[in-house]
Amino acid sequence: MLITRPPMGWNSWNTYGNNINEDLIKETADAMVASGLKDAGYEYVVIDDCWSVRGTNDENGKQLTTGRDENGCLVADPVKFPSGMKALADYIHEKGLKFGMYSCDGPLTCAGYPASYDYEFIDAKTFAEWGVDYLKYDNCYKPELPGRVLYNRMSMALKASGRDIVFSACNWGAEDVWSWIRSTGAHLYRSTGDINDSYGSFMNIAISQFDKQMYNTPGCFNDIDMLITGMYGKGNVAVGGCTEPEYLFHFALWCFFQSPLMIGCDIRNMSKATKDTLMNKELIRINQDAECRPPFLVQKTGKCYSFLKHLEDGEYALGYFNFSEDKQQVPCEFYNFGLHKSTGMALDLFDTVNDEQYLNCVGGFNATVEPHYFRIYRCKLHPAK
Ligand code: GLA
Repeated sequence: MLITRPPMGWNSWNTYGNNINEDLIKETADAMVASGLKDAGYEYVVIDDCWSVRGTNDENGKQLTTGRDENGCLVADPVKFPSGMKALADYIHEKGLKFGMYSCDGPLTCAGYPASYDYEFIDAKTFAEWGVDYLKYDNCYKPELPGRVLYNRMSMALKASGRDIVFSACNWGAEDVWSWIRSTGAHLYRSTGDINDSYGSFMNIAISQFDKQMYNTPGCFNDIDMLITGMYGKGNVAVGGCTEPEYLFHFALWCFFQSPLMIGCDIRNMSKATKDTLMNKELIRINQDAECRPPFLVQKTGKCYSFLKHLEDGEYALGYFNFSEDKQQVPCEFYNFGLHKSTGMALDLFDTVNDEQYLNCVGGFNATVEPHYFRIYRCKLHPAK
């Protein structure tokens, strides 16, 4: 199965953690349609960790029950999900959306629920029977086998299930994941540790992947974690929150670097600003660009970066990212990406965020960028007169 664009959707973890149930998931699916997110391209509704019956141990830590049924199958928590996962999948599918779930390559998930090690083929079959379209597969309690073997095993189990299921590997970048993950058949791979709802968190994640973008390709996307836009310091990974421009900066980075866009906030109660950010058409267009070219680093000056990104329609996106604490003139000399100084090529630039500024530039363009902020311009190249 070929996944040609970074998947877009919503995941329960960032806001809800363990606090999930079927009403929440149904209301989220409803909100995805009613808010316009579905029309903007978001389609996956993903339940993360903590959805199943837990195993039990005695006071010495000896396992009494696995949480699995008599056939070895995972069981949805009957209190959180009384109608069961098949009914929930049907509900989501009826809305024209897709259904995602979560497991892990160890015997337990990160939150201590039963996971798929040694049950891969049984679990893949269960997911297929429930109508799952997307599986996030974590890396906690990993046994003494190379990750590439464990991820390959689950990938083959999903294929054997008879259902097309997007396989979303999540090993946080361990074992140089970018160097082998494509060979396992996975469709995306988490390359970083967990995000939290703060500027420092998304900044460090983004910068850590600048030199790994050449591994991000259609078929197997570099997943730099779920979005925190719109969390405002509330929820499972809340750490103070971000300002509104910082949330837009975060979204712009995820779009420019063509990460999957998995919303992490409560989409039933989004502010206008959150909606505007998550549905920014020009940024989503860059995120979904079919060529998925890694950005060309033009200049790095301190904590300011400029990048040129080729787009499928023959145009370019020029991105200026200011991670410093001051307003900066972020430099970009066109010579640095190959234009001749003497032939004086010119670029028409227009600001994709404000959509109002058209400029003709020869030689370069230094964008003025607020601290913790960005500018992205769409460019056409033509010979200067
Ligand atoms: C890991 C993952 C997170 C989330 C949690 C669930 O930390 O990286 O994205 O899935 O597990 O326990």
